[in-house]
Amino acid sequence: MAWRTEAEEERFSFTPFTRHPFFTEVNRWIVERVICPSRRTIVDLGCGPGAVTQLIVDRLSQCGEGRVIGIDPSASALEKARRAIRSRVAEFVEGSAEWLSRLVPSADAVIFCNAIHLVPDKAKVIAEIRKVLKRGGVLAFNTTFFNGAYVEGTTGFWRRWVVRAVQVLREHGIAVQHEGKATARSFLSADEYATLCEHEGFSPPTVELVRVEMTPESLEDIGRFSLFIEGALPGVPLEQGAEALREGLRRALDETGFSTVPRNWLECVAVAS
Ligand SMILES: C[S@@+](CC[C@H](N)C(=O)[O-])C[C@H]1O[C@@H](n2cnc3c(N)ncnc32)[C@H](O)[C@@H]1O
Repeated sequence: MAWRTEAEEERFSFTPFTRHPFFTEVNRWIVERVICPSRRTIVDLGCGPGAVTQLIVDRLSQCGEGRVIGIDPSASALEKARRAIRSRVAEFVEGSAEWLSRLVPSADAVIFCNAIHLVPDKAKVIAEIRKVLKRGGVLAFNTTFFNGAYVEGTTGFWRRWVVRAVQVLREHGIAVQHEGKATARSFLSADEYATLCEHEGFSPPTVELVRVEMTPESLEDIGRFSLFIEGALPGVPLEQGAEALREGLRRALDETGFSTVPRNWLECVAVAS
């Protein structure tokens, strides 16, 4: 992960994107399936500034006793989460999925929203999650950066967005390391995720796709998120990257004629066997 100043973390935060209604919808899908009275210790892995943690806290309050431990490697995101969520059932710990079992000895459920695509060694992390779950415990994750996220007929738009952003940068004399793939992290398919879960000690997972309509405002907000900028435009300073993605988005929407762009979220729930 690139080093960022606190001011950059604040300016290029994930929070504005989390305020779009569809984002609550794709995360509530997970939270409602996972939280029940028999599951008391919930880990919100990769909690970021706490949008999903808040949904978990709300759900726990409807389901009796329970607590949530939010974990994230970003100290500034955790600071935002601590400020946003003042609940006695929530606590926050700095750390990474790769060493989860050293942070939390045992849990009934691990919720990992919008972050698994950022993990380079997914098998290792799923094995680590399995270590902290009791038999019957649940791993639930979602992501929209997977092979299958693009709805038919929209691939050209996603490609064009990055190509146009690169063009804007070149117009300003800024070179880009390589181009052509929004968030250049590894994209697995739904089947590959399911196979990984089974391989690491889970029953065959429930996997579903939820289709959402992304508004131009939501695309602009994700285009101002540090991790998205670093994935789409590797090596480009955040300020210039965000501006290029904003102008690139305007051009791509104009050229393709989309008013909103549909996209799939992968939703996966696996029970520890
Ligand atoms: C897009 S944000 C999602 C935040 C939150 N889960 C949500 O859905 O609102 C991704 C988060 O994953 C975190 N992250 C990245 N690599 C991680 C890792 N190896 N283990 C745990 N979290 C990680 C980032 O710091 C970031 O806060």
